[in-house]
Amino acid sequence: MTRLGTPLSNTAVRVMLLGAGELGKEVAIELQRLGAEVIAVDRYANAPAMQVAHRSHVIPMTDPHVLNGVILAEAPHLIVPEIEAIATEVLAEIEAAGLATVIPTARATQLTMNREGIRRLAAEELGLPTSRYAFAGSADELREAAHRIGLPVFVKPVMSSSGKGQSMIDALEDAGNAWAYAQSGGRVDAARVIVEGRIDFDFEITLLTVRSMRDGALATDFCDPIGHRQVKGDYVESWQPQAMSDAALTSAQDIAGKVTEALGGLGVFGVELFVKGDEVWFSEVSPRPHDTGLVTLATQVQSEFALHARAILGLPVDVTRRDTGASAVIYGGMDAVGVAYEGVAEALSVPTADLRLFGKPEAFERRRMGVATARGDTTDQARERAREAASRVKVFAV
Ligand SMILES: Nc1ncnc2c1ncn2[C@@H]1O[C@H](COP(=O)(O)OP(=O)(O)OP(=O)(O)O)[C@@H](O)[C@H]1O
Ligand SMILES: [Mg+2]
Repeated sequence: MTRLGTPLSNTAVRVMLLGAGELGKEVAIELQRLGAEVIAVDRYANAPAMQVAHRSHVIPMTDPHVLNGVILAEAPHLIVPEIEAIATEVLAEIEAAGLATVIPTARATQLTMNREGIRRLAAEELGLPTSRYAFAGSADELREAAHRIGLPVFVKPVMSSSGKGQSMIDALEDAGNAWAYAQSGGRVDAARVIVEGRIDFDFEITLLTVRSMRDGALATDFCDPIGHRQVKGDYVESWQPQAMSDAALTSAQDIAGKVTEALGGLGVFGVELFVKGDEVWFSEVSPRPHDTGLVTLATQVQSEFALHARAILGLPVDVTRRDTGASAVIYGGMDAVGVAYEGVAEALSVPTADLRLFGKPEAFERRRMGVATARGDTTDQARERAREAASRVKVFAV
């Protein structure tokens, strides 16, 4: 993108977000600030990013024909996937025909939507350290793989995210249940699973890695590591920086540099890593901003969303961290449409606290509806403040 234009005119730089959730909403706001024309797409109406976009479309994004139609009708310059459940073969065709740039690349979206693609790339092509793993297409194969790898093992549908269909088993007789559970949580029928040996880590991090253009050349920058805590495959709190040894940080950046270079393109990547002492294992990577990176709204000069918007537009980025901070998730806690929030003033009375309420039209028990952030002298203090602020927000059905 050598020049930016005016939205809704023939000079506009049109950016289509495929997935219009809370991460896309922040990216849309940053794009709006640079005068891009933003088109938000998701499978339900009034999704968060739709509320701050120029236009939106509600379509089944896994339907190749419908997705292709919307892309051709809107003719975006950039296509920015926010989620994995997209007919990515359409993106490959659009990219090959030179009709739009897919962020970061169509191949990256295809490889990362399938745990098998990204795991084979990382472990077998790039030789990066990962957990022991095998793929299974039946309960019997799963049992055999678990036996070979050694218990306990994690079982995950190859096509799933956010912990869906995922379980950990520590007895071979649980293989049948794990297989059945994986079938219920995968994105496609006849799910294949990855069986992973458990890594006994001290902590896990997201290393936000940004590929951008600087002085006419491609630059790779690393944000400070983000620590996080996962419950049922979903992040509940994150903090930045996560303290770690120099050796571990060097390994983490080396792994993140290699995997993002192999995926290519421009933008933010969330590289998920396990750390034990000086040792680091690659887990997985999102070719887009990462949910645990919401903390950067409070800590960095440019949040991961500002970094993504700049990088994909071909602009230079600055990954400087200004503060120590944390984020804590606010869940729906119930199933209801058009919920209301109370305790917001009380939450914002916590020193340094800030909030994002995503505006999702419908709440579910375990749906992320908002996030609290806070700063502190230490990550412990910031975490305590963020958790306190999040706990003061009450969700009501009306
Ligand atoms: N091999 C493993 N060893 C130890 N812990 C693991 C392993 N695999 C997964 N976990 C734990 O489960 C969490 C979720 O796993 P993973 O990131 O693979 O799933 P996901 O569905 O992609 O989750 P998300 O979409 O939230 O990133 C990890 O962050 C980690 O806490
Ligand atoms: Mg993950």
